[in-house]
Amino acid sequence: MIYLDNAATTFPKPESVYSEALNCMKNYGANPGRSGHKLALAAGRVIYETRENLCKLFNIPNPMNIIFTYNATDSLNLVIKGFLNSGDHVITTSIEHNSVIRPIKSLEKIGVENTIVKCDENGILNVDDIKKAIKPNTKLIVTTHASNVCGAIVDIESIGKIAREMGIAYLVDGAQTAGVYDIDVQKMNIDMLAAPGHKGLMGPQGTGILYIREGLNVKHLKEGGTGSKSEELTQPEILPDRYESGTPNTPGIAGLNEGIKFILKEGIDKIRKHEEELTDYLINGLKEIDMIKIYGPKDIKKQCAVVSINISNEDSSEISYILDSVFNIATRSGLHCAPLAHKTLGTFEQGTVRFGIGYFNTKNDIDKVLEALKIIVSQIK
Ligand code: ALA
Repeated sequence: MIYLDNAATTFPKPESVYSEALNCMKNYGANPGRSGHKLALAAGRVIYETRENLCKLFNIPNPMNIIFTYNATDSLNLVIKGFLNSGDHVITTSIEHNSVIRPIKSLEKIGVENTIVKCDENGILNVDDIKKAIKPNTKLIVTTHASNVCGAIVDIESIGKIAREMGIAYLVDGAQTAGVYDIDVQKMNIDMLAAPGHKGLMGPQGTGILYIREGLNVKHLKEGGTGSKSEELTQPEILPDRYESGTPNTPGIAGLNEGIKFILKEGIDKIRKHEEELTDYLINGLKEIDMIKIYGPKDIKKQCAVVSINISNEDSSEISYILDSVFNIATRSGLHCAPLAHKTLGTFEQGTVRFGIGYFNTKNDIDKVLEALKIIVSQIK
């Protein structure tokens, strides 16, 4: 199988991710932060070490400001619903995933206003348009770091600067970039960062992270046991306990820790360079094939390792199905849970065939894709 669906979840993972998740379950998988015995302490230690490694990766000053969630959607919902109140205004973009758009739309019911800034037909956001959308009641700006449909990169550093100058909080969705692109929450003025553990961070599914800057008041969406202040009948205020009720996914987090250690050891520059080279190679190869429409920036300095295409007016699901069943190539077709992004690109009716390149892909994988597409095109002609 040639796996090119890394934008949905990275596969395979580094070996140590599998072995540590299993080691945790078999050898120290007790309940962290609750009991005081050796196994519970070992489980607590691996979780704390994971927070510390995330701090190194994203230049986060305090490990206690990192909250473990179940995925990026969970993290985004927590901030969007926990931070905004009736009468507030939020700004986002037209290339966001439904994990941003749907919670924002649901808040219209309680009187939270929104502006969805339109990106151009290649998915590129003009940062000035964010500035122009700011109103006196704007409390939050939410943007992805890169489109999950066409890969277009958003200039988060410039938006962070605007947000800080205007006293508006900035939430970044790092679903397609965390672990591959530089994200420095202090330098870039990112107040809150949401990311899945199972994509670029190479951890297991069922892991997600959320960073909340010190001093921001985000309501918790659930209450429960935290292992701390058990004598009190109300949720503790301290982070991360305020948001982390119930037994966490310790084996998943232990695996995620190994994914982050792998990234820190390899270095994100090396990982990004590899993905950029393959993305460039794919885009250039696609340009040579008749009938193929490529969406997005078509420039590796402006896009991450996500490439969307169509073959003429052929159904994207059909092409993805043929790639899988005949050529053993895994892609994702359709709307990628981002209908507004497809409206932006003009692909809402057809969807696209999406190639999500990962660190473990090779040039040979891309050659196989190009060969397969040439054969499909020749049959359609
Ligand atoms: N959000 C994931 C994707 O883009 C699942 O495929």
